[in-house]
Amino acid sequence: MTTTPAPAPADTDVLLSATGITKSFGGVHALRGAHLTMRRGEVTALIGDNGAGKSTLVRCLSGIHQPDGGEILLDGKKVHFASPLKAREHGIETVQQNLALVEDLTVWQNFFIGRELTKGVGPFSMLDRKKMKAQSLDMLGDLAVNIPPVTSRVRRLSGGQRQAVSIARAAGWSTSIVIMDEPTAALGVQETARVENVIKTLRDKGVTLLLISHNFDQVLRLSDHVAVMRRGLTVAERRATDTSGDELVALITGAKES
Ligand SMILES: Nc1ncnc2c1ncn2[C@@H]1O[C@H](COP(=O)(O)OP(=O)(O)O)[C@@H](O)[C@H]1O
Ligand SMILES: [Mg+2]
Repeated sequence: MTTTPAPAPADTDVLLSATGITKSFGGVHALRGAHLTMRRGEVTALIGDNGAGKSTLVRCLSGIHQPDGGEILLDGKKVHFASPLKAREHGIETVQQNLALVEDLTVWQNFFIGRELTKGVGPFSMLDRKKMKAQSLDMLGDLAVNIPPVTSRVRRLSGGQRQAVSIARAAGWSTSIVIMDEPTAALGVQETARVENVIKTLRDKGVTLLLISHNFDQVLRLSDHVAVMRRGLTVAERRATDTSGDELVALITGAKES
């Protein structure tokens, strides 16, 4: 009697799996077959030297770029994001490096850009400002202690407050994954600590996060899983508890191979 091997159990914890992702800009091969696995409720960190391809990979996941090749599975189903809107429809929200906040609008208006709530019907419909303000306050919620009133203009906010607003907006709308590209790169020590608290709060709520960071201590403090990129490829993956700053540096520079 022959026995067929049992199929490998599906890893139902995997929320996103990207494999063989390629992307070129003219002659620049930014991604040469990168891969990434994210598990539900975990913080996955993406690290690598400048130019390794981190931002390009997350832009492929957030619909800003379309990969030249490879496959993205969300919840086990193949997805293709023709635009950032399509990625958002799948619950993926991104905090871009430039934050994408409108300086001259208030915090609550920024929360609702492109998703304005209206009341009334047809020609009599109007913006429901009261509801949007209340909902913005909810979205900021307990995310940060140092939060500005939702009626303040973004122009008046500090770097850390802007970052907190961007993260709260992404987390508020996301139903699946929040991606953050270098959320503390431009911040001082105190503001970095505040933003890290915002990230920890989300993590404790079970939000699935992808964190791009240069800061190894931060990565080891905040993440469960670390993916290392070098020259357009994912060269290693580690559990945060099974690695060290020294090992991550060696993997990033290529002093150590996977
Ligand atoms: N829009 C673009 N046009 C041309 N080249 C780009 C573009 N975006 C990224 N690149 C190039 O792709 C490579 C990877 O960049 P990037 O993904 O921004 O790296 P990282 O975020 O890891 O620093 C770099 O060589 C960069 O110059
Ligand atoms: Mg980048």
